[in-house]
Amino acid sequence: MATEMKDIKLVVRDLSLHYGTFQALASINLGIPSGAATAVIGRTGAGKSSLLRSLCRMNELWDDVRTEGQVLLDGKSIYEPGIDVTEVRRRVGLLARSPIPFPKSIFDNIAYGPRLHGIRQRGDLDDAVKRSLKQVGLWNEVKDKLNSSALELSPGQKARLCIARAVAVQPEVLLIDDPATNLDPVSTAKIEDLILELKEHYTIVVATHNMQQAGRVSDYVAFLSQGSLVEFGPTSDVFARPKDKRTEDYITGRYN
Ligand SMILES: Nc1ncnc2c1ncn2[C@@H]1O[C@H](COP(=O)(O)OP(=O)(O)OP(=O)(O)O)[C@@H](O)[C@H]1O
Ligand SMILES: [Mg+2]
Repeated sequence: MATEMKDIKLVVRDLSLHYGTFQALASINLGIPSGAATAVIGRTGAGKSSLLRSLCRMNELWDDVRTEGQVLLDGKSIYEPGIDVTEVRRRVGLLARSPIPFPKSIFDNIAYGPRLHGIRQRGDLDDAVKRSLKQVGLWNEVKDKLNSSALELSPGQKARLCIARAVAVQPEVLLIDDPATNLDPVSTAKIEDLILELKEHYTIVVATHNMQQAGRVSDYVAFLSQGSLVEFGPTSDVFARPKDKRTEDYITGRYN
């Protein structure tokens, strides 16, 4: 019998985050369901990216950042002293907004992560590259030019390449910050379809301002306002029957 805990991949407990004296997240409590897509929505500055970075210990790349509270991955704190941060970041992959391929070949872009994690055998790297490109639907488009520069790809292909780069290390969670920013509608639709496929294999958290996109790709939605979690629930419930007036105003586009 599945217990509730087993279905929750990440537990966020009383999470607060300060950049210097500025508080960007205030006592967030949230359980991110396993094998589903959770959208984090909220207006600009609400703390969406800060929350995503907190889930993989990426905020610490800045000086003067203070994190309080806990994030549990499969029940185990990722902020505990002595934890292997590189391993946390492998298990919980972050795709930053508008990710840019490295100025390297397509092959080397995808092989970058596996190499970093100690995979050296050419056959193993070949397998990882092929598997990852297939997973994002890019293999047939690029299999004959794996040694060409990734910078020659179209914007939509680059976006999928960056997702392939993220899945190459076989993460368990994918955090995707504003997918499809600056992409045309066709490429955006491809990315959204891809997210729907990827959630069969990974736990996904997507930060977006785009309500339609949140509605199309997510099973659950978390609404942040000024660093606080206002509402969380199944997307269909939150969109149809928001419990909080602030959520209702946001999703119906009344901003004040
Ligand atoms: N490295 C940083 N140093 C100082 N303040 C920061 C830093 N990163 C973010 N902030 C501040 O924290 C708040 C939350 O920012 P965050 O980028 O998480 O919001 P967001 O919801 O992702 O916004 P957007 O929709 O514009 O991407 C903002 O007020 C922002 O100015
Ligand atoms: Mg952001």
